[in-house]
Amino acid sequence: MRILLTGSAGFIGTAIGRTTLADGGHDLVRVDVMLPAAHRIARPPADTHVLDVRDAASTSAWRDVLQGVDVVCHQAAVVGAGVTTADLPLYAGHNDLGTAALLAAASEAGVRRLVLASSMVVYGEGAYTCPAHGPVTPAPRSVEALTAGHFEVLCPLCGEALASDLVDESAPLAPRNAYAASKVAQEHYAAAWARQSGSSVIALRYHNVYGPGMPRDTPYSGVAAMFRSSLERGQAPRVFEDGAQRRDFVHVADVARANAMAVAAVAEAAPGSFVAYNVASGQPVTVADVAAMVAEGARQPIAPVITGEFRLGDVRHVVASPVRAAEELGFRAAVDPRAGLRQFATASLRE
Ligand code: UD1
Repeated sequence: MRILLTGSAGFIGTAIGRTTLADGGHDLVRVDVMLPAAHRIARPPADTHVLDVRDAASTSAWRDVLQGVDVVCHQAAVVGAGVTTADLPLYAGHNDLGTAALLAAASEAGVRRLVLASSMVVYGEGAYTCPAHGPVTPAPRSVEALTAGHFEVLCPLCGEALASDLVDESAPLAPRNAYAASKVAQEHYAAAWARQSGSSVIALRYHNVYGPGMPRDTPYSGVAAMFRSSLERGQAPRVFEDGAQRRDFVHVADVARANAMAVAAVAEAAPGSFVAYNVASGQPVTVADVAAMVAEGARQPIAPVITGEFRLGDVRHVVASPVRAAEELGFRAAVDPRAGLRQFATASLRE
């Protein structure tokens, strides 16, 4: 198959290109805009078309790269949680306008298959059960509660502490920050495109991706890279809240495999279909445990500190059910986060 890979020079795009699609004997067309915020060294890797997805519907260079493509694997995005409201146009432009333009151009070129990089952030606070009221959808945590050090989410009906459940793909979408809003919009545009043009979409909702090639720390980096960078500076990893917030850390090599499986599956999918899958290890860990594991694996171990700081856009627990991806795509993560996070402590990062 001929596969167009957007975001091909990024952390996840590089892994998809190198370890999966190229090895599978596919014809790979690599596209990346080489955003300075993501690439300190702006020289594009070999065979990369330097193009902006926001221009996809309006330039002949995009028409050329879409020629004869069977599946678009769309990884290009501005990531992170957003720092200030000034970031809103950044997410809306690159992620949403960019996806809409890419979809329009894909239709124009006769492309009917899309694998979309989505995120667990679409779920917002995740899934919870109240001992008295059963499954409930909690409201965002208030500044007052967070400032007072009350980090757990509470039942909207009785105010009691909730137990977090595994989130499956039927959970309501409830974005809590600019990036999350842009990922929800991407999914909705893709689903509309599928219906309108009789195309097929698989959206992969990545959980916390880590591994070799992860960008060094920026305000937009994931927490594993932040912890690692602190250790390399000789500083303790700073764990926000009380460290008991839970996430699912999935290795980038597993994410690359999930994409290869999704590319194969979308080629056989029914016209007009949109299906989302969690891409997760299925083995949740607390953020305090992540800090401890990365610190243990570091060349100069330094004990993490629990700071009690918080970021308003953060959610408390997001732990995924990997069942649908296992049953329908055949995807099961191979890397146990407890081993992978220790190895990550000394893996090479991207400049
Ligand atoms: C992360 C990504 C998001 C991606 C999602 C799923 C970032 C900023 N977020 O979301 O883009 O869609 O995974 O792959 O890349 N924390 C600390 N210390 C720090 C930084 C963060 O304790 O120095 C805490 C945060 O408060 C939070 C947790 O670690 O509780 C995870 O933070 P982070 O990795 O930034 O964001 P996610 O919400 O998990």
